[in-house]
Amino acid sequence: MAYEELLAHTEFFEGASTEVLSALLQHATEVSFRRNDVLFTEGDSPDSLFVVLRGRIAMVNTSTDGRESVLALMDRGDLFGEMGMLDDRPRSATARALEPSTLLRLPYEPVVDLLESWPSLLWGVVRLLAGRIRNMDEALADSVFLDVTGRTAKRLLELSNGNDEFTLPLTQEELAGMVGASRERVNKAISSFIRLGWLEQTDRRYKIVQRDRLALRAR
Ligand code: CMP
Repeated sequence: MAYEELLAHTEFFEGASTEVLSALLQHATEVSFRRNDVLFTEGDSPDSLFVVLRGRIAMVNTSTDGRESVLALMDRGDLFGEMGMLDDRPRSATARALEPSTLLRLPYEPVVDLLESWPSLLWGVVRLLAGRIRNMDEALADSVFLDVTGRTAKRLLELSNGNDEFTLPLTQEELAGMVGASRERVNKAISSFIRLGWLEQTDRRYKIVQRDRLALRAR
């Protein structure tokens, strides 16, 4: 897929013409990272946004005692790093590669120029932000209404992407950071699913045996 098409599929650049996106892409660079490489750190002063071409990037907040909360996972076609451009504030999270990844890096300046020339494109930006708020609302409600076991079931179902067999793109520690609980408690939840015969697991390979049971536990 041409980069123009990839950008046009992001909510952020939805509605921009191929010509406009081609002009913007003159300023883009391709950057590659290995697993665990940090693209930027929470608090850094930002100057560009990113679109994932290949791989997977985690957006992470770290507590003062080193625990991590995983805000979101970004994979092919996802755009991130836009907040600093919109509010002129430091990076709100750390971006870390979970696997070998290649991204398009777009400096803010030409993006701002484009939005000023085509203000109706700001609707796409607003839609992206509204989507992020909806996801956070759901995560907040889950943290109030679901226990750790329920949240673990829900995350596993999300990460399975509808497939019965899948490889978890995260370490157990990172999964715990997504669930918002300790690794021990998340492990315990997974062990209980295996004991009940709902799930099978070998290292990072998972097989969902009884999806309906897991789904019920995630409600
Ligand atoms: P920025 O603050 O520039 O750098 C960190 C990025 O993480 C941020 O831009 C967003 O693109 C992304 N981000 C921050 N919070 C969330 C969230 N709740 N959901 C999805 N992405 C987020």
